[in-house]
Amino acid sequence: MSGANNSRLVLTRAVLWLVVGIAAVVAVNRFARGLGATTALTDATPWGLWIGFDVLAGVALAAGGFVIAATVYIFHLDRYHAIVRPAVLTAFLGYVAVVLGLLMDLGRPWNIWRPMLFWQPHSPLFEVAWCVMLYLTVLALEFAPVVFEGLRLERPLRIMRRLTLLLVIAGIGLSTLHQSSLGTLFLLARDRLHPLWYSPILPLLFLVSAVALGLMMVTCESLASSWLFRHRPEWPLLGGLTRAAAVVSLLYLALRLGDLAWRHQLVYLLEGSWASVLFVFEIGISAVVPALLFLLPSTRTSHAGVATGAVLGVGGFVLYRADVGGIAHLAVGGHHYVPALTEIVVSAGVVSAMALVFLFLVERFPVWEERPQVPGHFTAPMRDRVTGTFFGGPWFSRAHLGAAGLALGMVLGVALVEADAPTSAAARLRPVPAARTALIREVKRNPSPGHRLEVLSPEQVTQDPDGIEAALLVGGGRNGRVVLFPHQAHQQRLGGPASCGKCHHRNLRHDRGTPCTACHRDMYAATDTFAHQPHVEGLGGNASCTKCHQAGTAPARASARACDAPACHGGDVSTAAVAINRSKLPAGYAPGYRRAMHTLCIGCHTRHEQKTKVTTPYLSRCTTCHRDRAVEPEPATVVVARLEAP
Ligand code: HEC
Ligand code: HEC
Ligand code: HEC
Ligand code: HEC
Ligand code: HEC
Repeated sequence: MSGANNSRLVLTRAVLWLVVGIAAVVAVNRFARGLGATTALTDATPWGLWIGFDVLAGVALAAGGFVIAATVYIFHLDRYHAIVRPAVLTAFLGYVAVVLGLLMDLGRPWNIWRPMLFWQPHSPLFEVAWCVMLYLTVLALEFAPVVFEGLRLERPLRIMRRLTLLLVIAGIGLSTLHQSSLGTLFLLARDRLHPLWYSPILPLLFLVSAVALGLMMVTCESLASSWLFRHRPEWPLLGGLTRAAAVVSLLYLALRLGDLAWRHQLVYLLEGSWASVLFVFEIGISAVVPALLFLLPSTRTSHAGVATGAVLGVGGFVLYRADVGGIAHLAVGGHHYVPALTEIVVSAGVVSAMALVFLFLVERFPVWEERPQVPGHFTAPMRDRVTGTFFGGPWFSRAHLGAAGLALGMVLGVALVEADAPTSAAARLRPVPAARTALIREVKRNPSPGHRLEVLSPEQVTQDPDGIEAALLVGGGRNGRVVLFPHQAHQQRLGGPASCGKCHHRNLRHDRGTPCTACHRDMYAATDTFAHQPHVEGLGGNASCTKCHQAGTAPARASARACDAPACHGGDVSTAAVAINRSKLPAGYAPGYRRAMHTLCIGCHTRHEQKTKVTTPYLSRCTTCHRDRAVEPEPATVVVARLEAP
């Protein structure tokens, strides 16, 4: 029973470290290169595996904590006392996994503290955020006595003991609230969730499934630790747990099917689509099979039967959460979300890390009533007495397999990131198409003040030619949306023929209105606007070099002559009112399209907003330019602009 001799434990640890190693590298890559480049998440499916699995399932795993705590402290079923601590520990680690998953998934994780100071009480996510923070704190406090006991800190231990009941009650309250509020959150996704999963009783289903999952998780853990540390499972306890789990699973099954029948949604089961198959599979492994295994006399006392039931049940309920969290969302714009390998690896890494922490705490602190033995068979000396060579002592000799696993994992992680790199770099580039002209009309907005601009079809134009003006549709058309820019109206407002230079700050030769996309070519990436070869050809081939490069200097960007030098493009390039080169890019590099547009458009709108006589309210707000209605019209209705020098 010694930990060091226990090959199962050592190997399990090494594998866990391996996965952690891979995930660590992949996670660093995710923070370095961003979500878009490293995951399958898009604007259409912004929530994927990390929310569905890490967050939703992490929360669900924690249900064991409050169920067992309630059983023991509220209902006084004292024989379950032995599993309170592991259950609370699981809950705590589940919530830590939630936080890790959330940090991975947030676009701006460094802002995670904000809900604490900036309150948005109308947002369901606000409630979720507070539940996570508070319950994590409560769980940490609930578990603290174990650590104090292990460290023999008597005074804090006594204080914590007195607080136990209070913490248990707070924990139960917060946890029930949070389980169901996560369900509430998905009530918002009425149009996104497949009808087999959407239900007005989602909050109740989340709560009931969490109880079942919690019980099965504690069963799993108990079995896993008896396997790892080679002691006999506590059968009387397990029997009680599995019977309760079976009852709750059956209740869940009845609720789920009853709800679908009541709302006449069962027809979707006969659809034969992948969703109906997924539903049957999920219900089967989460509720039906475990309940049968836990109740049938032939399997309910067999090790294999109970283990199979608990593992399937945990997997099934986790799948339920992942389905609601993302898998069963309807495809938007023809895109089906399939998690990227990086997402799967990171999720596996979070679970492995939590398992390692669990093992660490179980070995060193009195988590189980019967504490597994820490190895005492051979104590390696720290250093050689004579030569002083460092041996590292017992900890080092046991840690080496784990360290090897971690190192190997990191190598594999680098390989994975590298193999993934070319595709994701290409995915990151978003070339912007040229602006298109469309005919628009102002539509009075009723009852709110102001007006809306509406893109017209050719029929509408011939039927009613009044008040028509031309506008440009600019942008990449992400999610079918473009920005509608009233070009002519702006020219008139800003001084007619003299206005051009206020926006067209740089042009190709002999032009006053070169499209911005000629230089700001990518939505986000900066692009080099300088083409070397055409310049050399136009300026006399090999004789041209010294027109730009000073003799005696190494040819480079910094030492080359500026584009707008008087002898070069000094005359062609308009002196613009645009705030130029705040982006600190090398000369000749144009910042991304979004940046150029936002700097120009929002800059001027903000200045004008402060003046009184503007008719459009909220000129600098996102919705002035990004509107729901500025959807790209059918290609046939757009008069494609021809670019010509005036
Ligand atoms: C005065 C006009 C204006 C305002 C106000 C404005 N934008 Fe933009 N924005 C644009 C233009 C023009 C583009 C480039 C065209 C496009 O949408 O692809 C753009 C592009 C973007 C893009 C990139 C679109 C893509 O396809 O990747 C994002 C994201 C964006 N804006 C967000 C915002 C947000 C958020 C706000 C409010 C804080 C805002 N914008 C306010 C004009 C504006
Ligand atoms: C308020 C800023 C602004 C002013 C003023 C302005 N433009 Fe533009 N212009 C733009 C933007 C923005 C685009 C489209 C963005 C793109 O090309 O991606 C554009 C596009 C163009 C285009 C190509 C598309 C088309 O409609 O054929 C031409 C040509 C053009 N402008 C000429 C002019 C001339 C000539 C003037 C002066 C009379 C002028 N512009 C004034 C901002 C402006
Ligand atoms: C001939 C190439 C070219 C064209 C065409 C062009 N730009 Fe630029 N733009 C640049 C370059 C290069 C920079 C970088 C600063 C510099 O060197 O002037 C820049 C910078 C900017 C900036 C400053 C951004 C920042 O935050 O630093 C804005 C705003 C801008 N451009 C808007 C526009 C708009 C709007 C149009 C179209 C109406 C346009 N540009 C057309 C080349 C161009
Ligand atoms: C119109 C001005 C112009 C002329 C003419 C010109 N160059 Fe350049 N050259 C530049 C600029 C600007 C850069 C930096 C831009 C870049 O890296 O793309 C550059 C970069 C270079 C570089 C460095 C490229 C690198 O990757 O760092 C070399 C080498 C070079 N030029 C050689 C020549 C030679 C040889 C000739 C004559 C045949 C010549 N250039 C003519 C403007 C010019
Ligand atoms: C130099 C100043 C200036 C620049 C640059 C500018 N605008 Fe404007 N824009 C205005 C003013 C002023 C108004 C409001 C006029 C009014 O309502 O009286 C306006 C109004 C608008 C409106 C509302 C039009 C309506 O009638 O509903 C839109 C949309 C708009 N701008 C888009 C853009 C976009 C997109 C860009 C960048 C490509 C841009 N503007 C750049 C000054 C500017």
